[in-house]
Amino acid sequence: MDEVTILKAIVREMQKGVLVLNQQGTILYANPFFMKNYSPRTELRGQNIEELKDRVPLLGAIADVLKRSSEVSTENLEISDRDRFFKIRTVGLRDTGESNLIVFIEDITEEKRVEAIKKDFVANVSHELRTPLASIKGYAETLLDGGLEDREKLKEFLRIIDKHATRMSRLIEDLLILSRLESQDVPMEQEPIDIYKLIASITEGFKKHAQDKGITLSIHKNGTVPEVLGDRVRLEQVIVNLLDNAIKYTPQGGKVDVIVRYENDEVRVDVKDTGIGIPPEDMPRIFERFYRVDKARSRELGGTGLGLAIVKHIVLGLKGRVWVESTPSKGSTFSFTLKPAR
Ligand SMILES: Nc1ncnc2c1ncn2[C@@H]1O[C@H](COP(=O)(O)OP(=O)(O)O)[C@@H](O)[C@H]1O
Ligand SMILES: [Mg+2]
Repeated sequence: MDEVTILKAIVREMQKGVLVLNQQGTILYANPFFMKNYSPRTELRGQNIEELKDRVPLLGAIADVLKRSSEVSTENLEISDRDRFFKIRTVGLRDTGESNLIVFIEDITEEKRVEAIKKDFVANVSHELRTPLASIKGYAETLLDGGLEDREKLKEFLRIIDKHATRMSRLIEDLLILSRLESQDVPMEQEPIDIYKLIASITEGFKKHAQDKGITLSIHKNGTVPEVLGDRVRLEQVIVNLLDNAIKYTPQGGKVDVIVRYENDEVRVDVKDTGIGIPPEDMPRIFERFYRVDKARSRELGGTGLGLAIVKHIVLGLKGRVWVESTPSKGSTFSFTLKPAR
């Protein structure tokens, strides 16, 4: 194989856009990746990028970069019309006698998105930790400043301090779970599990809590259900989080039902409540970290805002699906599926 053939193959298969322009901005070459992703249905070769501006927005942005910068540059440029980000690198090509330019175009939207999520996450964690900590400090200081004599007050303040400390430790617990899930140092077990049995034993633990709130908690099995492939500890976290939410967001006198069934080669679990429901506008974001319909209420109830993020992470990690259906003030049903063990 000669070198030209090899180089041709590399450019053809490259998962980055490559353009070659002459000094006037006429396109001498566009690789298949560029054509396919940024300029379908438009012939580029022989045309000037200025003239193609309106039809291929990315070319307009590239033209702007070239006008602004010297011929060799690395620059991040933003295409606003389709919310995508690109890194553009241009290299002068003089060996041909003319001064042509190679432009490499890399879509970095995904990296940008991840970066933004990380920043957001750190800001959120700091905020979530600062709020209870400020309360703890405030109450402790009040007590130290002479609030110790009144025993009733002392007790009340200590109770508040304890509540905030509990919230902080829950938050840290959930953060550790998430970080372990993400680091993949601890891989998901794939052992056969009788999910109905597992749920039944977990609901036992919730029975008293539900009773105290005047909520009827029951579990049903529709037909026979095979064992699932899963990780016992992680599945427990999924079920605990969903049950905890269902009970927490259902007012007195309500019902929480867990239904397990085998359908379309999947084991499906529904956690159904007759609670406050979720407004349609919040539905798409409900599984995001720290996203809560009512922040103050969730905090008051001891929530961390991470429960559903953990649920989603685990279910997807086990190659299942997870979703919610809800009607405000009627109730919600959180469902997830798992693969049967064979
Ligand atoms: N069963 C439910 N009924 C109504 N709203 C719910 C239910 N489960 C979750 N939510 C909403 O989703 C948000 C996120 O849930 P989650 O991640 O478990 O956080 P937390 O329970 O700590 O607030 C909750 O704050 C609540 O607004
Ligand atoms: Mg929760």
